[in-house]
Amino acid sequence: MAVPYCPIMLAAATLILLAAVTTVHSIGVNYGTLADNLPPPAQVAQFLKEKTIIDRIKIFDANPDILRAFANTGIPVTVTVPNGEIPNLTDVHNARRWIVANIKPFYPQTQIQYILVGNEILHWGPQNLRDDLVAAMRTIFKALKLENVEGIQVSTAHSLAILEPADTPSTTKFRAGWDVGILAPMLEFHRIVKSPFMVNPYPYFGYNEAKANFTLFQPNKGVFDNETKILYNNMFDMQLDSVYISMKKLGFGDVNISVGETGWASQGETFEQPKCSVANAASYNGALVKKYESGSGTPLMPGRKFETYIFALFNENQKPGSIAERNFGLFYPNLSPVYDAGVMRTGANPATNPSIPTQPAAPATNPTPTVAPAVKPTPTVAPATKPTPTVEPTTKPTPTAEPATKPTPTAAPATSGKKWCLPKSDASDAALQANLDYACGQGIDCKPIQPGGACFTPNTVRSHASFAMNSYYQTQGRNDFNCDFSGTGSITTIDPSNGGCTYVS
Ligand SMILES: *[C@@H]1O[C@H](CO)[C@@H](O)[C@H](O)[C@H]1NC(C)=O
Ligand SMILES: *[C@@H]1O[C@H](CO)[C@@H](O)[C@H](O)[C@H]1NC(C)=O
Ligand SMILES: *[C@@H]1O[C@H](CO)[C@@H](O)[C@H](O)[C@H]1NC(C)=O
Ligand SMILES: *[C@@H]1O[C@H](CO)[C@@H](O)[C@H](O)[C@H]1NC(C)=O
Repeated sequence: MAVPYCPIMLAAATLILLAAVTTVHSIGVNYGTLADNLPPPAQVAQFLKEKTIIDRIKIFDANPDILRAFANTGIPVTVTVPNGEIPNLTDVHNARRWIVANIKPFYPQTQIQYILVGNEILHWGPQNLRDDLVAAMRTIFKALKLENVEGIQVSTAHSLAILEPADTPSTTKFRAGWDVGILAPMLEFHRIVKSPFMVNPYPYFGYNEAKANFTLFQPNKGVFDNETKILYNNMFDMQLDSVYISMKKLGFGDVNISVGETGWASQGETFEQPKCSVANAASYNGALVKKYESGSGTPLMPGRKFETYIFALFNENQKPGSIAERNFGLFYPNLSPVYDAGVMRTGANPATNPSIPTQPAAPATNPTPTVAPAVKPTPTVAPATKPTPTVEPTTKPTPTAEPATKPTPTAAPATSGKKWCLPKSDASDAALQANLDYACGQGIDCKPIQPGGACFTPNTVRSHASFAMNSYYQTQGRNDFNCDFSGTGSITTIDPSNGGCTYVS
């Protein structure tokens, strides 16, 4: 629940009631931690509380340090069950054990708001996780009851790959196969337990130069939906209405929607220009915060407020992939704002809009397709490695053109010409686990990532998958498609080797 900031309205007895209706000045953020230079969680908690209007956070695990740090702050925390745990959590004994180990030690001192069961499971798979998702959500809910934990909701976040490709909201619907098989029972669950259906809309991934203003909340001609007669003036509304219409078509228009992730990178490679700039990130996130506060809703859901989590709190220096991946943050690790997104408390605003640099001119080499449908995932070559949907996820930032054909990134060693394959930053743990299993099953040497091996630490799925995906790429002939991994791999010219851990090249 939001912390009210308006002292006049605070009569102690009605505090809780009022907090529900006076959600002024608030927004959520995703607190990602793929970095080695972030401040301690306690400092982050204090900073958010005292200096910003950010009033809720979402994390991609159940990190005990973060859960401890946010105790008694009044800032609700949303935690995520690791994807790989999903099959186990369909068993209520395991689910209870998970609650006992990860939730009970911290709750209610830390106000845990949602438990999200995995991240973008439908999008990334593998299939057994998709199959078990709804059952795991139900079981976690049941386990909370059995453990007498009250007040925590259960949900899961989806990329917009759950939608069929369409040009307008009225013509879209949920992907056949997932609609009745998975999403209908899931929405039924949401309806019964009154938790929101959570989606991750990213106009960022729908950007092209022709639609720049439409994605950035700036003046534009709009996109007309000739069935509803609605002229959409921004892609965010269009994406949310597409979700809403798809829910309605299945009979679940009454279930709440929340926005688990959305955001914009403030810097990128040459091939990511002119999309990634401070001006664009400030325009998108700034307008998003204002829109959220206004409570205006969307054309089809006027006046509805969608709990929203911006991606991300910090620039994260250890995210693999292009420069943009490491520049989605609202803040630098030293807590200074990257730009004015309107999230500082009054009086604490860093810079005013005039200081925002103007958007650089578009380079002729921009690889973005000229016709990028707002809600339409781009079709891609079917991956050999995984049974993923035939549509490419909307959440996939990397352009189809290879950086190698573009001006060399500044950090690239110009002389070596060496390349490595790494996971994209938005690849889920489930996808990375699948990549890891696949690559190690193809005869590459996975001993270095086993206990005692030079690359065993950090002992994370991402780190182990990075090593295995690169080894696979190198041994299979270093073709770009050897690093595709269903759209979850990307090639870099920066040597990821570190310490005693050598990535082959
Ligand atoms: C699943 O549960 C079993 C037994 O409870 C345990 O041995 C195993 O490690 C669990 N798997 C995961 C991925 O947590
Ligand atoms: C939707 O959200 C509001 C505000 O949080 C809540 O009061 C209501 O019960 C929710 N409705 C459903 C159907 O979940
Ligand atoms: C985009 O928006 C800017 C103002 O933010 C405006 O100056 C420009 O003309 C717009 N471009 C188009 C193509 O509408
Ligand atoms: C709406 O536009 C589509 C093309 O975008 C067209 O095929 C369809 O006939 C139009 N429908 C109406 C009612 O005008």
